[in-house]
Amino acid sequence: MSIASSPLRPLIAPSILAADFTKLGEEVEAVTRSGADWIHLDIMDGHFVPNISFGPSLVQALRTKTNLPFDVHLMINPVDPYLKPFAQAGANHILIHVEAGYHIHRSLEHIRSLGIKAGIVLCPATPLEAITEIIDLVDIVLIMTVNPGFGGQKFLYSQLSKISRLRHMFTQANRNIYLAVDGGIDETTAPLAIQAGANVLIAGSAIYGKKDYAKAITALRTTT
Ligand code: DX5
Ligand code: ZN
Repeated sequence: MSIASSPLRPLIAPSILAADFTKLGEEVEAVTRSGADWIHLDIMDGHFVPNISFGPSLVQALRTKTNLPFDVHLMINPVDPYLKPFAQAGANHILIHVEAGYHIHRSLEHIRSLGIKAGIVLCPATPLEAITEIIDLVDIVLIMTVNPGFGGQKFLYSQLSKISRLRHMFTQANRNIYLAVDGGIDETTAPLAIQAGANVLIAGSAIYGKKDYAKAITALRTTT
C-alpha cells in the first residue's frame, strides 16, 4: 500500500466520549468551529462492552448544536431494536459491530432503508474475512485500534496490517468506502494509520484532551 493511494486530507471525527459531559452542547459546537468533519458518538450498553455511555435522547439533544454528520458507533447487543431510534434521533451514519446480532446482513439493509449510511466495525480480534460477504452493503468500515469500551487506551499496532489489507480489498473491489480507525489515534499513530490506508480518523483524548481543538485537529491531519 503506497501513501499515494491515501487521500491527502483525512476526515477527522472527534469522539465526544472524551468531552466535558457537563457541557456537551458547547463541546460539540467547539469542535464544529475547529474544523471537525464528523461528530463521533459512542453508544455503550454495559453488556456488549463493559461501560455505559448514553442513548438516543442525548443524540437528539445534540442534533441542534451542529450540522456536521453524526457518526453513531453502536456498541450494543442486540443492536436491531435500536437502529430506528438512533436514526430518528439524528444519526447520519450508524455503525454496528460484526458480533452485534445474528443477522448482520439484515441489520445493514435495515440501516440503509432508514436513508442513512451503514457502517461495519471490526474489533481487534475480528478477522477481515468477516466482512467479505457484506462489503456491498456498507459505506464505512471501521477498524478498532483498541478493544471497544473506553477512551484513552493505547493504539494496537497489530491492526495496521489489517488496515492495509482492507485498503487493498477496497481497491480490488473498486469501491469508494470510508476506511475509519478508532482508538488511540494521536499525532504519532495518525500518520501510521493514514499511510496504511485510513481516510477517517476518530479521536477522543487527542482532541478533547487538548486546550486548542483546532490545533489538535490540524495536527492529526498532518501526515508527515
Ligand atoms: C472506544 C470508542 C472510541 C473512543 C476513542 O470504544 O469507540 O471512539 O472514544 O477514544 P480515544 O481517542 O481516547 O482512544
Ligand atoms: Zn467509537
